[in-house]
Amino acid sequence: MKKSTIVFLIIIFETGLFVSAQEENLVSVNQLVVVANNPGPVISKDIYGHFSEHLGACIYGGIWVGTDSKIPNTNGIRNDVLFALREIKVPNLRWPGGCFADTYHWKDGIGPQSKRASIVNTHWGGVTEDNSFGTHEFMKLTELIGCDAYINGNVGSGTVQEMSEWVEYLTSNSDSPMTRLRKENGREEPWKVRYFAIGNENWGCGGNMTAEFYADVMRQFSTYLNNYGDNRLYRVACGPSDYNYAWTETLMKDGGTRNRFQGLSIHYYSLVDGWNNKGSATDFGEWEWFQTLRANLQMDQIIRGHKAIMDRYDPQKAKGLVVDEWGNWFNVEPGTNPGFLYQQNTLRDAITAAIHLNIFNQHADRIKIANLAQTVNVLQAVILTKDDKMVLTPTWHVFRMFRVHQDARLLNIDLRCEDYVYGDRKIPSISASASVDNKGAVHISLANLNPNKSITVTCPVIGENYKKVSGEVLTSGTMNAMNTFEKADNVTPSVFNGFTYKGGVLTITMPSKSVVVLELVK
Ligand code: AHR
Repeated sequence: MKKSTIVFLIIIFETGLFVSAQEENLVSVNQLVVVANNPGPVISKDIYGHFSEHLGACIYGGIWVGTDSKIPNTNGIRNDVLFALREIKVPNLRWPGGCFADTYHWKDGIGPQSKRASIVNTHWGGVTEDNSFGTHEFMKLTELIGCDAYINGNVGSGTVQEMSEWVEYLTSNSDSPMTRLRKENGREEPWKVRYFAIGNENWGCGGNMTAEFYADVMRQFSTYLNNYGDNRLYRVACGPSDYNYAWTETLMKDGGTRNRFQGLSIHYYSLVDGWNNKGSATDFGEWEWFQTLRANLQMDQIIRGHKAIMDRYDPQKAKGLVVDEWGNWFNVEPGTNPGFLYQQNTLRDAITAAIHLNIFNQHADRIKIANLAQTVNVLQAVILTKDDKMVLTPTWHVFRMFRVHQDARLLNIDLRCEDYVYGDRKIPSISASASVDNKGAVHISLANLNPNKSITVTCPVIGENYKKVSGEVLTSGTMNAMNTFEKADNVTPSVFNGFTYKGGVLTITMPSKSVVVLELVK
């Protein structure tokens, strides 16, 4: 780094004030310093991943309509959903669960569809599924999206042989019973499978195991998950939820256990006020807004806790942290099946998405995969469908705006901002992250968490001069603004003009309750 840059940074970091050489008296309480000439780790594109479980209308109706459907489809997969997923550049898709994964027997979902055994979805609504969406259909879906498959195996009620054979069926090209079966079912070439999880929430719905018991079971299952040909599995061990650091410690501390996986998952859902008061997805006031964003911000603390343990046993950061379930969990939409977890999506969810993605970017050194729960019609969905209609939620728009960070390099930032105060509680009013892509373009993503006031941020961009700055903003007049089947474009991004760029300093005025992404091009 140049000496002048270092002096500049010392002034900023030591005094907390910014005094530009070009502009006198420019002092701001809201200040975001972006160091553009010293890029850090790559932000794995896979932290922009999604999760599609056999739950409610996520798979059946939301993604899969079958080849005989009147809804336009490709090989049974809805075209409208497919295009929407391609547009946000979904890098990987997790399937078939969730809790469902530890009840799923993959052999029920292969072969002629009319001959497949049905399954009762005991976790989600008790509905009977005909298994018309199985391994071949999922792999076709990932091919059509252009993303990696992230398959979650069954530890809770499955066998080592069953899981081992699934990997063989998917990825082997040797002459074996499983590859012959795959070929009989119409797929000659093996698929590439990148990510494979060894159970889901095995401390709960996946078998109610202790950490010690799971660690042993995971070692056993993992032993038989082979790498066939040039396919290299990234094995994800089941990690804890929330603040359960003891589980992470157990999985990390022993070398024999640690060596059996490449990634360790964690799950964290944001709740308004605990599991007994999840609140409405659409009908809420400022207290629920504040509580939700406060819960979202805890993701940072949770990650720091798990990272600290991983850093002790794996200082080279060879193991990835995999946040494969995250998002807001509200009460189901009144009148819908409580087991289907259908909730609408508002501007609040857009801010939630921005907060999480900024946090994940900031932890790019350790987080390798993350998956929003869930893709279509379930929890904080990016897409809602009703028969042949489809709506892109405010959360989808944030994923579209933030896709510029995928595989870019993280930039160091220093953020100082005013608090957003509600009652006797406060949270920072701004969330931010920045990256530089392989063409040298810098992207700065911000969210203004305060629903009552616009905020001006002074943002020196250290190191380079940029010729062109442009931006997009996502906001609305009300906290619970949403896109509906009747009014699908109510919350959509627009061109953002609320900034100036002079002498290397951006001055950004963000509307209340908004998400902004800026692009700086040399
Ligand atoms: O996403 C819904 C459920 O939440 C998943 O099935 C489970 O893993 C988690 O508890």
